[in-house]
Amino acid sequence: MRNILIIGIGAGNPDHMTIEAIAALNRADVLFIPDKGEEKAALRALREGICARFIRSPDYRTVPVDIPRRGEAGSDYHGVVDDWHERIATRYRALFEAQLAAGQTGALLVWGDPALYDSTLRIMERVVASGLPIDWQVYPGISSVQVLAARHRIPLNTIGAPILITTGRRLAAGFPADQDSVVVMLDGEQAFARLDPDRLDIYWGAYLGTPDEILLAGPLSELSAEIVSVRAAARARHGWIMDTYLLRRRPAA
Ligand SMILES: C[S@@+](CC[C@H](N)C(=O)[O-])C[C@H]1O[C@@H](n2cnc3c(N)ncnc32)[C@H](O)[C@@H]1O
Repeated sequence: MRNILIIGIGAGNPDHMTIEAIAALNRADVLFIPDKGEEKAALRALREGICARFIRSPDYRTVPVDIPRRGEAGSDYHGVVDDWHERIATRYRALFEAQLAAGQTGALLVWGDPALYDSTLRIMERVVASGLPIDWQVYPGISSVQVLAARHRIPLNTIGAPILITTGRRLAAGFPADQDSVVVMLDGEQAFARLDPDRLDIYWGAYLGTPDEILLAGPLSELSAEIVSVRAAARARHGWIMDTYLLRRRPAA
């Protein structure tokens, strides 16, 4: 039996590694380091820095994982994602078989928290369903959403009320009528800039937890254009960007 540890590593600040995650890292014989997207060099460097800083034995081995690209979503978004996950699962299975002997432990370092807008857990279910005998555990990490709230010093919800965590793609359909607090991730198109800003405040953060962190907060009507331009300039400077925001509806006067 092989053992796989899925370890949340925080969203950019190595100080956000939990003690449990560090202990798990130190049990791994092989660290699988995914490589994907335009931001890959910076994110890979962060993962490698975490290994170098927290793993006590010098004998650990890292194996890069070249994550296949997703097809264009088109009209069949779920079909395209399904196919993409299957290809990643096939790649992971092959790597686990090739790189881990029976009884050995591998670790996947997952950005932020593995339960939040990350497909590693779904992909692991596919690997297990494919018949490879593995045992696996999940270690939570500090997500970008928690860092966003901490940096702005705000609770995500108002008293006794729910929050919605969603994507830019969904927000593009409009601010949900039945919500007051909406956290938006994966928004490459700045969906906030096309909303009716009436009574909405935005708490925006980019590169959260990293030395390049940018924070802006205030009425959406006043900040929308500024965030679009700050975001574009930062993206041009770094070659990539990750940003997250909370939109909060103010009570009617
Ligand atoms: C694929 S999701 C991964 C989320 C991750 N599992 C988490 O817990 O934060 C990527 C999205 O998370 C958000 N994100 C991740 N890291 C971030 C960071 N350091 N600063 C701002 N947003 C971040 C962005 O909305 C980005 O588009």
